[in-house]
Amino acid sequence: MVQTMPDARPMAGKVVLITGGTGGIGKATAIGLAGLGARVGITGRDLERAKRAAAEIRTFSGNQAIDAFAADLSCQAEVRRLALTVLDAYPRLDVLVNNVGGFWAHQHTTADGLERTFALNHLAPFLLTNLLLDRLRASAPARIVNVSSHVQAEGRVEFDDLQGVRNYSGQSAYSQSKLANVMFTNELARRLEGTRVTATSLHPGFVRTDFGAEDQAWFFGLVGHVVRPFLKTPAQGAQTSIYLASSREVEGVTGQFFANSKPKTANKVAYDPAAMARLWQTSADLVGMKPAISCTN
Ligand SMILES: NC(=O)c1ccc[n+]([C@@H]2O[C@H](COP(=O)([O-])OP(=O)(O)OC[C@H]3O[C@@H](n4cnc5c(N)ncnc54)[C@H](OP(=O)(O)O)[C@@H]3O)[C@@H](O)[C@H]2O)c1
Repeated sequence: MVQTMPDARPMAGKVVLITGGTGGIGKATAIGLAGLGARVGITGRDLERAKRAAAEIRTFSGNQAIDAFAADLSCQAEVRRLALTVLDAYPRLDVLVNNVGGFWAHQHTTADGLERTFALNHLAPFLLTNLLLDRLRASAPARIVNVSSHVQAEGRVEFDDLQGVRNYSGQSAYSQSKLANVMFTNELARRLEGTRVTATSLHPGFVRTDFGAEDQAWFFGLVGHVVRPFLKTPAQGAQTSIYLASSREVEGVTGQFFANSKPKTANKVAYDPAAMARLWQTSADLVGMKPAISCTN
């Protein structure tokens, strides 16, 4: 009997871009996908830090094909510049992992005059994905993987106060942005029907990273300190991202939310066509994108 060996480098020949690959879950995702043979591009705000992370990813994965890109994704001009640099560097793009996300206890405003949580966690992946969509389509089958969180379940999209002008709470802003990730994913999946480009979202688990450290509420700082030893390692937290980016089991699977590499039902708003369409249009307006861009039907 002829036995077939499992492919040790199933991502060989594939090109993957991971936002926020300089630390935490993104870096562990990069190590995992590079280990499977992919060329991996990582992004961070500082080029030297991104280059150092790329060197470590090469060492841990044994794969030399790691590229470092720099952009502050809370600024739309930087998202646009990153997209142009990536399009120039990569003639094909097989997987985009929108991993960057942050939490701020206090309200901050971006260079574009937007609330930072919504701008970085939702508008940046919305804009970057749309700017890279033609390249992903041309590379099909391709995958878009959006890192959300379990807090999407308690999120509410405050269409009348998206920027938290009337009422800001770090927790509400974060859960709103993570629900927006799932709504964006599901609407994108619908718009990409028939293109062989899939879109999925995920909760990585509770993971020991630098998440939220820039501006932490004292209460979460205290709780975080106590529970830290019990959290997943970044390598464990990266497993669902790696699975959705690479596994044959999810070939063609689109418009679904995952946790622990299993499909899960998300917040019911993430299946509401009117709410998803409204979020898409509002986001397109906020990033100055013509509605027709990347809309296939
Ligand atoms: N950790 C958890 O328990 C947990 C749970 C649920 C969901 N998540 C989600 O998982 C994702 C990754 O979280 P993590 O815990 O790995 O976070 P992290 O340790 O804070 O890493 C964040 C990454 O994003 C980059 N980054 C931060 N701000 C940026 C900006 N303005 N522009 C560009 N890049 C920026 C950082 O790079 P530089 O600092 O080099 O710029 C870093 O590579 C997030 O979307 C988060 O919402 C995390």
